[in-house]
Amino acid sequence: MVRFVSAAPKHVKEDHSLGCAEVKFTLKTRVQKISAHAPGRVELLGNHTDYNEGFVLSAAIDRGVTLTGGRAESNDIKLHSATMDSSAQSEINKLKPDKTDTWANYVFGVVDCLQRDGYKLGGFEADIESDLPLGAGLSSSAALEVATATFLKKLFGLKIEPLHLAKLCRKAENEFVGVNCGLLDQVSSTFGKKNHAIFLDCRKETVENVPFPGNVELLITHSGVKHALVGGEYNERREQCFEAAKRLGAVALRDVTSKQLNAARETLPDLVYRRAMHVVGENERVQHGLEFLLRGDAKAFGDLMFESHESSRVNFENSTPQLDALVAIAREEPGVLGSRLTGGGFGGATVSLIERDAAERISANFAQKYRERTKHECQTYLCEIADGAH
Ligand code: GLA
Repeated sequence: MVRFVSAAPKHVKEDHSLGCAEVKFTLKTRVQKISAHAPGRVELLGNHTDYNEGFVLSAAIDRGVTLTGGRAESNDIKLHSATMDSSAQSEINKLKPDKTDTWANYVFGVVDCLQRDGYKLGGFEADIESDLPLGAGLSSSAALEVATATFLKKLFGLKIEPLHLAKLCRKAENEFVGVNCGLLDQVSSTFGKKNHAIFLDCRKETVENVPFPGNVELLITHSGVKHALVGGEYNERREQCFEAAKRLGAVALRDVTSKQLNAARETLPDLVYRRAMHVVGENERVQHGLEFLLRGDAKAFGDLMFESHESSRVNFENSTPQLDALVAIAREEPGVLGSRLTGGGFGGATVSLIERDAAERISANFAQKYRERTKHECQTYLCEIADGAH
């Protein structure tokens, strides 16, 4: 269960939803309704490693997206999002990205990818509810995709393996929504396990659940500055990583060690070196972090989280002054073992590993110090590590 610590709202309206023409209707299904839920995720270590064929440690959290609805008699898809206070509709065989209600594209995209993969679907109606803050870097988009796929799997009795489901959801985001994300978010939302981290090898496409130490908690702190992957920075970083691998003669940055990178430093432009160093360093931190988790060494794991953030700040430049302020506060606060930005960056949230006994005090101090230093309000969420989509 999440303890909602600050008095912040449960969702933030996406700017692009404002002013859109709303088709309002109440969803009515004559058949029995079913529900599917998919969690958000927190990236623990392994920032921007997924599309570099590397390693990630993440966890599903106890906040997410729920679809409730049933089959329709027609071929129409009718959606209502309580979070966005908006409705959208499309004929199942005429799906194309919706320029106004862009939130619906995550659903339409999944339907489209499932159909193109040969799955037989029909019209349906669904109400969508979410308690994930949007733009916090907690993968509200992937949660919506995975919740949709899980809902359709149940509704139409589809036989679909979990990894294939996660990959189709990523395909929807890549091809229908137009964001070139890696596999991390959809895998985390699908493969979460209560009290376990997820270790993903993005080249081998293998997923393992790793027990998480019991005396610590995850505190998510949303900086109040939204991030949007649809923005250009993510794709730009991706291209820079590919360029770095090419210059190093590697298939992907997964194949480069920090020793090799340092040996080649003089031959690379500084920016290319720093981008590569972030990803290569993150891959190494994930592997060390995995060992620390297996040993139950939360303190050593936390140190890697601080290192990870420093590398984001200096090398990858995907942090913001607000995220840096949150990590600076974390460093001062007794009982915080580690802290870093989580997800794509350029806004969003940090995740801190904190001693369970000190959780309430730490949350309150974060909120107060952040307000004093940045004049922004942050939202803090103490998270439990939760099961994946069901
Ligand atoms: C976003 C993307 C992921 C991953 C992270 C950064 O969450 O959707 O695929 O690249 O950023 O690690």
